[in-house]
Amino acid sequence: MTAQLNPCGDVAVLVPAAGAGVRLGPGRPKALRLLAGEPLLVHAVRRLAEAPSVHSIVVAAPVAEVAAVGELLAPIAPVTVVPGGAERQASVAAALAAVPAGPGIVLVHDAARALTPPALVESVAAAVRAGHDAVIPVLPVVDTIKEVDADEKVLGTVDRAALRAVQTPQGFRRAVLAAAHAAAADALTDDAGLVEKLGVPVHCVPGSEHALKITRPFDLALAEHLLATGR
Ligand code: C5P
Repeated sequence: MTAQLNPCGDVAVLVPAAGAGVRLGPGRPKALRLLAGEPLLVHAVRRLAEAPSVHSIVVAAPVAEVAAVGELLAPIAPVTVVPGGAERQASVAAALAAVPAGPGIVLVHDAARALTPPALVESVAAAVRAGHDAVIPVLPVVDTIKEVDADEKVLGTVDRAALRAVQTPQGFRRAVLAAAHAAAADALTDDAGLVEKLGVPVHCVPGSEHALKITRPFDLALAEHLLATGR
């Protein structure tokens, strides 16, 4: 059954899903790889559509898969599908350009974080609503982190107490994200990085282990296990 999005919601979610997923090994574009029999993108969009504040969802798909992705997602939720770009940042910009009038909050969420709970979508949106221009979900770093040179020689140990691993969805006041993308010069791996370059403060909220990024075969196996055990 197609989930109805909330016409009174104040949140649009952009889903860059146009990456090749080389680190998962050869095969289909990453967002279309199967997890428990369904593409990662289907899992991701289903959870976004369950978040009560979500008014609209725009997916940036691989250029050759735009029509197929539209058909795939139609039974899940009403989504707009646009062709993605060569870099993640270009895919986000393409999706941002397709957001309808209305929502004042824009979230950017990687399709690869397919098991992200709707509650995390809501907590990021709530922090933007509460007055933060830019919000990122984060987890503490558990490993010791070393800085190394090109020869793998250790240069030093970084104080992990001051480090955070950053997830998505990242949330923004719509005008702030639009300004950040308009001003973007270099391609960055996250949207908060663009906003930081504008000098806008970025606020952290607690992330979720379930928002893990499915990048390598091990991540896929872990995600299968989480789904199978209902966690
Ligand atoms: O490559 P990486 O794992 O950082 O990609 C993060 C997200 O960005 C993925 O969901 C991927 O599909 C998306 N992406 C995109 N367009 C690209 C490259 C990556 O939408 N050109």
